[in-house]
Amino acid sequence: QDLNQPYRTGYHFQPPRNWMNDPNGPMIYKGIYHLFYQYNPYGAVWDVRIVWGHSTSVDLVNWISQPPAFNPSQPSDINGCWSGSVTILPNGKPVILYTGIDQNKSQVQNVAVPVNVSDPYLREWSKPPRNPLMTPNAVNGINPDRFRDPTTAWLGPDGEWRVIVGSSTDDRRGLAILYKSKDFFNWTQSTNPLHYEDLTGMWECPDFFPVSITGSDGVETSSFSENGIKHVLKVSLFETSHDYYTIGSYNREKDVYVPDLGFVQNGSAPRLDYGKYYASKTFYDDVKKRRILWGWVNESSPAKDDINKGWSGLQSFPRKIWLDESGKQLLQWPIEEIETLRGTQVNWHNQVLKAGSTLQVHGVTAAQADVEVSFKVKELEKADVIEPSWADPQKICSEGDLSVNSGLGPFGLMVLASNDMEEYTSVYFRIFKSNDDTNKNTKYVVLMCSDQSRSSLNEENDKSTFGAFVAIDPSHQTVSLRTLIDHSIVESYGGGGGTCITSRVYPKLAIGENANLFAFNKGTQSVDVLSLSAWSLKSAQINDESMSPFIE
Ligand code: FRU
Repeated sequence: QDLNQPYRTGYHFQPPRNWMNDPNGPMIYKGIYHLFYQYNPYGAVWDVRIVWGHSTSVDLVNWISQPPAFNPSQPSDINGCWSGSVTILPNGKPVILYTGIDQNKSQVQNVAVPVNVSDPYLREWSKPPRNPLMTPNAVNGINPDRFRDPTTAWLGPDGEWRVIVGSSTDDRRGLAILYKSKDFFNWTQSTNPLHYEDLTGMWECPDFFPVSITGSDGVETSSFSENGIKHVLKVSLFETSHDYYTIGSYNREKDVYVPDLGFVQNGSAPRLDYGKYYASKTFYDDVKKRRILWGWVNESSPAKDDINKGWSGLQSFPRKIWLDESGKQLLQWPIEEIETLRGTQVNWHNQVLKAGSTLQVHGVTAAQADVEVSFKVKELEKADVIEPSWADPQKICSEGDLSVNSGLGPFGLMVLASNDMEEYTSVYFRIFKSNDDTNKNTKYVVLMCSDQSRSSLNEENDKSTFGAFVAIDPSHQTVSLRTLIDHSIVESYGGGGGTCITSRVYPKLAIGENANLFAFNKGTQSVDVLSLSAWSLKSAQINDESMSPFIE
């Protein structure tokens, strides 16, 4: 670890320097994983003339920088190469659809194809002269500033391609505009969008994919079966900077998507992550038969600090994503390849965490670790009844003072804690009795929080606390937490991955060997740690310049 760069990560994806935002066009091709990303080669802040950075990997853990796949170069993208996706054609060839900012500063959709499909690294891409393929115009009522981020395309029963593009109307109706094509080059806008929702504003980076209703295997984007799958529509809401998803049905005859429950209005749709997380995108890994999710985790520091340290932006650790047995939520879990980084392991079994206690987890590199813990709470009847006004979990987490005893919890982990506890980030649960006795399914409410308020002595960072409810029943299930700690990022998976919270922290003291890890229980009732496993994680090769064929 470079002492001048305490916030660079050991195993989270980042370029050697400069600005990165959205993950673009993830895929596996000839056994090589590819990740493209919105990259500003000129500095640590976003710039409209952004390019497609490119890295490759054999295991999704270690990455090699490749030259940018493409830069602004032609009238249809001369002012920027914005986000987009890869589609693998039936002949096995990958094609990129991406948003270009054209010579008039309009958003248009373009195509890029590999120059040499026998190169598994796909180092060179070309832009066919046909570009742009889709343009906004007054006739189709699309605003040229709100027309971007094409998804992976899928094949319909008629053999035609479909793709959606994010948009919104002037009166804030968010839209997934649908286009169809027979040959992938000539695209026609369908009269109806795939889906829309009033008063949600611009939909950025939509993602639309099938999930199996019977297990955790992934489903290829074009595959369809009437009874075996559901569809997921994810949108990144520009107005809130969060990624929301719904689970529903895709009617292939009408080419419309119908969510099972409501959508984002009134905040009713679940989020992929309740912390810092945006512009996520999935792809289907046909080798390991799984769907993998990437998401952009931006900084919580002021831009001047980003410029100083010379970089900005991380990708979350890649997550496997699938439909929970209940059919009501998605589950996410770090891809299994993370285990190749595991070193020293510490295990606890059946450890009682007495009311008010804090126990240190000794023996792992606490600044770069993987921690799994499951709690069992016995005296559930001692839980406080949740206040009817406490509907917003982030608010409860922000107001809950850890020093105030309140029945069941807070209990959880304190990570990136300094030697004298001047700094720490706490990831914890609180259990309440439901106040809704008409609903027998929700006897208890489990709250998960990630509290950054004490994470750094530096007061200039955004230290907002995050929170969400976890869909588990503590009378039958253990309360589980997995947390990935990596210097300046804390990625937490509650309830087996049904609730995820990612945060960025910038400790001044809890750095390297001066970082500590604890389990704690500040509640008035004791809690059992059924098991706790913590691993030191080795550093991955992440775009190491000395390993890279491409030096800027
Ligand atoms: C999302 C986004 C996309 C756009 C890209 C530009 O973060 O605003 O809508 O294509 O970033 O970098």
